[in-house]
Amino acid sequence: MEKKPHVLVIHGPNLNLLGQREPGIYGTLTLNDINNKITHSANLLGLNVECVQTNHEGVMVETIQQAVGRYDCLIINAAAFTHYSIAVRDALAAVNLPAIEVHLSNIYKREEFRHYSVLSAVVNGTICGFGVHSYILALNAAVSLVGGDRE
Ligand code: DQA
Repeated sequence: MEKKPHVLVIHGPNLNLLGQREPGIYGTLTLNDINNKITHSANLLGLNVECVQTNHEGVMVETIQQAVGRYDCLIINAAAFTHYSIAVRDALAAVNLPAIEVHLSNIYKREEFRHYSVLSAVVNGTICGFGVHSYILALNAAVSLVGGDRE
């Protein structure tokens, strides 16, 4: 019987503005466009995916906590929280679920305050700089971490 891994994609603050937000950096796709591409690729890879977005740190912490037992893997673009939220880092460390950190832009090519991620040490790996493809690459990484339709 088919048993698809469940993957939760968490988008952080201001990513709801994609499409109009600094398009030179983040591109012109809306969050809805990105989620549609994620869902399409997840289906092809044999993953079950759900996408959520929040502008609130506490909601992100609770979303991570509540993922236990419901999801097999997290893909997280914590946006600005990446650079300073010990609460999000501690939540990821606490749940101990496979997790992939994603960024649309190459954070190492940008302002110095974006070069450091407090999350990187508690995730399996990080993918950044490929626009929407960062998420698609992360889905492929999720397959290698938790399996896909071939299992
Ligand atoms: C981002 C990079 C962060 O530095 C920034 O605060 C974001 C988006 C990215 O996807 O490139 O909001 O996570």
